Amino acid sequence: MSVSSEFLNKYNVSGPRYTSYPPANFFNNAFAVSDYINELEASNSQTPKDISIYIHIPFCPCRCHFCGCSTVIAQKKSIVERYIGAMKLEISNVSSHLDLNRQVTQVHWGGGTPNSIEMRFIREIMDHIRSIFTISHKAEIAMECSPAYLEFSDIDELASMGFNRLSLGIQDFREDVLKVVNRKGPKYSVKDIVEYLRVKGFRGINLDFIYGLPLQTAESFTETLKQAIEIRPDRIVTFSYAHVPWVKKAQKQLEKIGLPGPDEKMEMLVNSIAQLEEAGYISIGIDHFVLPDDDLAIAFQQKKLHRNFQGYCTLETTGQVYGFGASSIGQFWGAYAQNIKEFPQYIEAIEQTGFAIERGYKLTGEEQIIRTIVNNIMCNGVLEFEDIARQFGLTSEDIKQLVRFNPANFEGFIFDGLMTLKNSSITVLDKGFIFARNIAMALDPAYNQSENIYSKTV
Ligand SMILES: C[S@@+](CC[C@H](N)C(=O)[O-])C[C@H]1O[C@@H](n2cnc3c(N)ncnc32)[C@H](O)[C@@H]1O
Ligand code: SF4
Repeated sequence: MSVSSEFLNKYNVSGPRYTSYPPANFFNNAFAVSDYINELEASNSQTPKDISIYIHIPFCPCRCHFCGCSTVIAQKKSIVERYIGAMKLEISNVSSHLDLNRQVTQVHWGGGTPNSIEMRFIREIMDHIRSIFTISHKAEIAMECSPAYLEFSDIDELASMGFNRLSLGIQDFREDVLKVVNRKGPKYSVKDIVEYLRVKGFRGINLDFIYGLPLQTAESFTETLKQAIEIRPDRIVTFSYAHVPWVKKAQKQLEKIGLPGPDEKMEMLVNSIAQLEEAGYISIGIDHFVLPDDDLAIAFQQKKLHRNFQGYCTLETTGQVYGFGASSIGQFWGAYAQNIKEFPQYIEAIEQTGFAIERGYKLTGEEQIIRTIVNNIMCNGVLEFEDIARQFGLTSEDIKQLVRFNPANFEGFIFDGLMTLKNSSITVLDKGFIFARNIAMALDPAYNQSENIYSKTV
């Protein structure tokens, strides 16, 4: 599949990324701790039945100027210790509302840079989780790591704690690019790290890249991806640099150096899709590429792919997500709940009240149906109105009314060869996958085109 830049430009409109439905900008402060506890208890009898755990470590040794994540610069050991203590308390408190016959099928550590804290802290949390929950033998236990701080002995430790998935933030292989964005490069050869991870039994090994950073050109990004392809990780993510200096002040410094223009950025995107597909990677979404034998590729082919705030996962291993740590988000069938973002306030709230919920959102029954539709389109590229109707005990007509279905809204997508619409079913075609957000937007009654609060779809 090759994607032209005209197409990318045509469909590059402002829209939600649908990491949740409704998107996170719908979350509000009216959602209180009592609502959270109700949702925790309700989640015991909802689907998916299994438990996913998200652990947020906000700390980073230094701040990359492009960073859009929830991070703080490295803290004293005593502060990290207090943070770990607060998370353990939070895990105990939340688990007291959960049916512990349910098993854990996913543990995801994100940040920040979780591998920048001492391994003993990571072990303390993992031991605490194991002392409370039953972890399934098929569980995916993953960590997002920066290779600047990753030792081979850390990999041994992580493997001994049960970690079996790892993602490395590379961003670019060019040292000058990393230097101008204030980022430390990998301490060891990434190829050697990936090989060692394989030896230690890790699967789904992922490398993250960003295009659109200062000094990058279409040519240089091709060279960076060439090196990535030679390493042959199971997964490659090529994020489009999200420039939001009004939220992330450090990003202003990149403007002084100069950012690649929109045409150059578009060229990087077009080239990277062609280059990765040529190298045998399968595109499972706008910026995610996987080898054909990776679990995500298999789930994608079987239409069993799932997505949450932590990224893509398979329907087999996903669960309702219980988030721990500052800024983490719980993702349940009936609601979303987010913790206080600032870590000192998070620690205080946990130490004083046991919980640190700051905002959230309770989904209506209709929103639960729309979320299912949006997820089906975003992850698996299918929508069978009959299936959705059956799942929710309604008729196809009810579902169509709910999403204000109008075949005319899809004529352009069909004409451009992005999808088919037959007998009340939508199928996203190969060429349409990277525009799945646009198709989902046409099925989302809450999406308001006049609101310019979202990043571009491409
Ligand atoms: C939590 S970090 C990964 C772990 C570790 N902190 C690191 O940077 O290596 C998650 C990923 O978000 C991506 N990211 C961060 N800021 C971004 C931005 N402004 N636009 C696009 N992607 C971004 C990077 O690719 C990064 O690897
Ligand atoms: S990109 Fe990663 S290492 Fe850099 S500041 Fe953000 S979270 Fe920290």
